[in-house]
Amino acid sequence: MRKKLIAGNWKMNKTPTEAAALIGEIINQTSGATCDVAVCVPYIDIPAARDALKGGAIWLGAENCHHKESGAYTGEISTGMLKSVGVNTVIIGHSERRQYFAETDETVNLKTKAAIAAGLIPIICVGETLAQREAGYTDALVSYQTKIAYAGISEKDALNTVVAYEPVWAIGTGKTATDEEANETIGVIREALRCIYPGAAEDIRILYGGSMNEKNAAGLLAQPEIDGGLIGGASLAAEKFAAIVKAASL
Ligand code: PGA
Repeated sequence: MRKKLIAGNWKMNKTPTEAAALIGEIINQTSGATCDVAVCVPYIDIPAARDALKGGAIWLGAENCHHKESGAYTGEISTGMLKSVGVNTVIIGHSERRQYFAETDETVNLKTKAAIAAGLIPIICVGETLAQREAGYTDALVSYQTKIAYAGISEKDALNTVVAYEPVWAIGTGKTATDEEANETIGVIREALRCIYPGAAEDIRILYGGSMNEKNAAGLLAQPEIDGGLIGGASLAAEKFAAIVKAASL
């Protein structure tokens, strides 16, 4: 039985002061959670978020990282730096990073390895655009993205990773994959994992992301392949995020 994980992806929202306030509300409203809960926040918010989390059960996450340990990479943050300030998980290869910041399947693989080396849990994002879905490429594409992301990673290390299936057309658009569509594509991703890790694929959590909210979460989370959610918009309002956490705690 895979324990569900609900991870907020705040994107470029909230100052450190606002982050502390929102985390205070999230802690209050998710006290009965039996699933894992994470907040992935902008770099600048990490110290304030860590202090507000007070060493409790909620995971502290970043939204990106660089794959090198250190060096002349102006504006970048390494996984070791994240670890040193209390981060334990990091989103890798979000579609917005792929779309606006030229990230590729290869950089996703490098970043995943760097996260593992630093002792962070990578949340690896895969997913198709609307054009790719309409052309019938979804299954081939998510399988390929998954296999490249995990190239060179051992089965033991893979057990400490999470995948997020995020159809690009559903992110921030209010359009959600149907429960069945999301379940089916996540099943395809698990099959890709099974090819690489026959002994671990059943234990690796695969989340759904893309306009998951307090209304549709219960249906999505009831699907057998869906092990949680990566939540953008609805993670910025404590009551909505808490309602999703509650739906994952049933
Ligand atoms: P959304 O974002 O919930 O606002 O669609 C999800 C994500 O991008 O991780």
